[in-house]
Amino acid sequence: MSKNTIFRKKNIQSVLSQSKDGHSSGLVKVLGVRDLTSFGIAAIIGAGIFSTIGRASFEGGPAVSLLFVFVSIACVFTALCYAQFASMVPVSGSAYTYAYVSFGEIFAWIIGWALILEYAVSNMVVAISWSEYFVGMLTGFGIHFPDYLTIDYGTASKAFAAIQRGEQATDVMKVAAAAYEHAPTIFGNAKLLIDLPAGVITILVTGLVYIGIKESRTASNALVVLKLLVIFLVIILGAFYVKPENWSPFAPNGVQGVLGGVASVFFAFIGFDSISTTAEECRDPQRDLPRAMIYCLIICTVLYVAITLVLTGMVNYTELKVDDPLAYVFQKIGFDFIAGVISVSAVVAITSALLVYQMGQPRIWMSMSRDGLLWKKFSEIHPKFKTPGFATIMTGLVVAIPSLFMDMGFFVDLTSVGTFFAFILVCGGILYLDYQGLSKDATFKVPYINSKYVVATLFIIGFGYAISQGTFVEHLQEKPLLAVFWLVWIVLSIMAFRLNFSLLPVLGILTNLYLMTELGVTNWAIFIIWLIIGLVIYFGYGYRNSKLAK
Ligand code: ALA
Repeated sequence: MSKNTIFRKKNIQSVLSQSKDGHSSGLVKVLGVRDLTSFGIAAIIGAGIFSTIGRASFEGGPAVSLLFVFVSIACVFTALCYAQFASMVPVSGSAYTYAYVSFGEIFAWIIGWALILEYAVSNMVVAISWSEYFVGMLTGFGIHFPDYLTIDYGTASKAFAAIQRGEQATDVMKVAAAAYEHAPTIFGNAKLLIDLPAGVITILVTGLVYIGIKESRTASNALVVLKLLVIFLVIILGAFYVKPENWSPFAPNGVQGVLGGVASVFFAFIGFDSISTTAEECRDPQRDLPRAMIYCLIICTVLYVAITLVLTGMVNYTELKVDDPLAYVFQKIGFDFIAGVISVSAVVAITSALLVYQMGQPRIWMSMSRDGLLWKKFSEIHPKFKTPGFATIMTGLVVAIPSLFMDMGFFVDLTSVGTFFAFILVCGGILYLDYQGLSKDATFKVPYINSKYVVATLFIIGFGYAISQGTFVEHLQEKPLLAVFWLVWIVLSIMAFRLNFSLLPVLGILTNLYLMTELGVTNWAIFIIWLIIGLVIYFGYGYRNSKLAK
């Protein structure tokens, strides 16, 4: 392939030899399946289960527990694809590097750019969730933090306006509206409303990452135990206070209500892919990585389903639109002490999730910069602390500033769009490598099931069912993106027939894409704008400075 095309590719052999000669040599192969599972759980369990689960339950009611099962299945297909890549290209850089060897540079750039959504933007959610539990914890200790310094402008002003219009207000809306009223005005008549704890914790964690604090295996394992303990506490204690009548109706807003929680539910699973970046440090990556990814997904799914049932059983689902649902439900039944214990543990547990992603993002930028796709500064290593100093500071700013001003929901959607996109490309990458015959050296392969007739048969069943419901056209009008989904399914049916594709990656593409269509046109539009900005940077800089071009 010519050096001067946007599709220039890295060669798997050269990536492997570079990683042996270069910076990553000397890594010790110590991680076993238990460490990897624990590492995965550390990355998965964060703001999702502590916060966004509340929004999903509010939209879909108790039936959101089933959505957790469905989304976890999509994640399992993707996890198997990640595992195959990790066994073929066991270097850090994750999906970015996988795309570089399979589809070429422009796709690698696009994935790297989308991963900013998965790491940096998701961390904005984690920071906001941290802030919510932190303020709750302070209140538990009798310390009152000024309310206008704990909320974003949009949420507060919307709640205020709604109450002014005479809409029925929930407790949370009342608090938000009060913050709006109390807020001092600056610059003439603008209200000062920011989520200060979210910004401050991000800066503090960035400081730790900058000076090179290494989350050691022991620390990570200890935090996982703490997270699991809080969750078990909520499930076991909460189970005694479940009122089964709260579960009925099970799906109060129908299938659409349940699917409205896709972004929040998916958000809660993000992170299982991050263990693929440790491939070089695994004792037996090809055996352990796939197992660990599946184990973490199973463990988290069971916990998520149980906790959704408990939350929606303890209080009516309409009350769950809060950012600290786990503590909230106990406050609601008058268990302030338990709510306090949950808040304190949540603050610690969520900090560890913040740390994982705050460390991951600069390292992806570092890989991109080493390849010449980003400015050199992004791969500069701090002489004393031996961390990618500049990239770390940039990550801190990029995460801290928006988390001061924005609403969590916006970031959840954006993170999910970007991550679905990356997952789809990873599944597609496996099909492409198989087709090119490059998978033969893979030490772990996605179990092969010939999809020759299966994809088309499933299409006929799925499409037939959709038509038989009699609302196909209405659905399409409501969600025009479904057209993309059906079209991709047709194309995949034809290609699977001709090329005997492996079934599981195809199912990975279809399930992820279907869930992505649920995210709504606005999210896609923002994502497309995001991609365009990325492409402008690529053509303005990376294309010319790429190491492969030289
Ligand atoms: N799954 C991660 C969390 O819930 C992103 O915080």
